[in-house]
Amino acid sequence: MKEVKIESILQVYNDLEELPPDIRSLMASAIEAREQAYAPYSNFKVGASILLDNNEVVSGSNQENASYPSGLCAERTAIYYAGAKYPKAKILKMALTASSQNKVTDKPIPPCGACRQAIAEYELKQEQPIEIYFMGAKGKVAKSNSLSNLLPFIFESSVL
Ligand code: THU
Repeated sequence: MKEVKIESILQVYNDLEELPPDIRSLMASAIEAREQAYAPYSNFKVGASILLDNNEVVSGSNQENASYPSGLCAERTAIYYAGAKYPKAKILKMALTASSQNKVTDKPIPPCGACRQAIAEYELKQEQPIEIYFMGAKGKVAKSNSLSNLLPFIFESSVL
């Protein structure tokens, strides 16, 4: 038996002002998308904006449903929209932000496991890392240099 250590490395920015200008503007799109979320059940709004290599920005927000599991997270809403609209474009960067009506979200809020799996599909397909920046409603912003860094030991198609 041997132990295998798996670790993730994040870069953490103190606030929005510390971000490079292009990411600050991508995050501004995500904040705009977040405010358009349809989240009447959780009151937890999430926005996701994606920068593509054709310079387009595609955004999405979480969309909830009275039948709770039928809703969809912001990240998947955005990435499936990007895949549907620009199937040949590569995904360069993603900016994510979440806010809650019930509490202050002042720490970086990472994408859920299901969204990481969905994003991984595109990162593996394009053979190029996707940078992911994520935050709450305010405060620090975390950056992962790739999706695989956020979801090591991933389930992927080569095992099928
Ligand atoms: N949600 C997202 O949009 N992204 C995530 O990564 C985690 C959760 C949404 C789903 C649901 O509408 C609400 O946040 C509460 O879970």
